[in-house]
Amino acid sequence: MPDRAALVTGASSGIGLAIARMLGEEGYGLTVAARRPEKLEAAADELRAAGAEVEHVPANLTDEDAIRAVVAAHRARWGRLDVLVNNAGVGVGAPVADMETRRVDLQLDVNLRATVLFYREAAELLRAAGADHGNALVVNTSSISGKTGQPWLSVYSATKAAVIAWTQAMNKELNADGIKSVALCPGFVDTDMTAFVREHVPPEDMIRAEDISEAVRFLLKTSPNCVVPEIVFQRRGEAL
Ligand SMILES: NC(=O)c1ccc[n+]([C@@H]2O[C@H](COP(=O)([O-])OP(=O)(O)OC[C@H]3O[C@@H](n4cnc5c(N)ncnc54)[C@H](OP(=O)(O)O)[C@@H]3O)[C@@H](O)[C@H]2O)c1
Repeated sequence: MPDRAALVTGASSGIGLAIARMLGEEGYGLTVAARRPEKLEAAADELRAAGAEVEHVPANLTDEDAIRAVVAAHRARWGRLDVLVNNAGVGVGAPVADMETRRVDLQLDVNLRATVLFYREAAELLRAAGADHGNALVVNTSSISGKTGQPWLSVYSATKAAVIAWTQAMNKELNADGIKSVALCPGFVDTDMTAFVREHVPPEDMIRAEDISEAVRFLLKTSPNCVVPEIVFQRRGEAL
């Protein structure tokens, strides 16, 4: 049984899968969650083949009960939570006059509400880890569009800006309990999410998912008194 455990949402591809791979390499017991069961199972099998111990829980994170079920499954399997990664996210582009309410709600629910609910459901486990070693970590995947709002991706930008503010608030509220939070703010990363832009920005000009996971590996090694509230990843030539 690993002596540390981590829960990663949106771990079936892209940035979440890269972070899960890294946490497996670092010896964490893993709970991975994402929406589509077959895709998640394939990712979990890949992680197991690489030597990680993995619980996989398909869950649509727009659903409060599903979020509770993910944390309950994690608690039942591992009994502790040292690293929580709120990474699942969705972006739907639209000009302001054409926004569909259900798509506005979807982005708010997955990108922001699920993050809030995961903190609530995991608070007791995180506090226990904080009391144990003073270095519980919550990683929230924001975006560079949370630093500076983007046209057409305006709702997405607003949810990601809210994730940064939420992360700041959580540091003020929970650092004294040994729980540190970080908001990751990348520009274009080469994942499924950026398939729509490949024609204009080729994958080789994008940030790699492993650039993000290596930054999280560094955070795991920081001392309890060192809080890194935010990391911005810009593409070469890109400015905020
Ligand atoms: N790629 C970029 O350029 C970029 C830049 C900045 C920030 N980000 C952020 O990085 C995070 C990861 O994105 P990615 O680039 O790695 O894209 P990705 O490969 O498409 O991964 C998104 C993950 O989120 C899951 N997810 C989406 N909606 C969900 C829902 N309703 N319930 C549960 N899981 C759900 C997906 O599962 P399913 O596939 O089953 O839906 C998938 O595992 C997101 O928060 C995104 O906003 C990405």
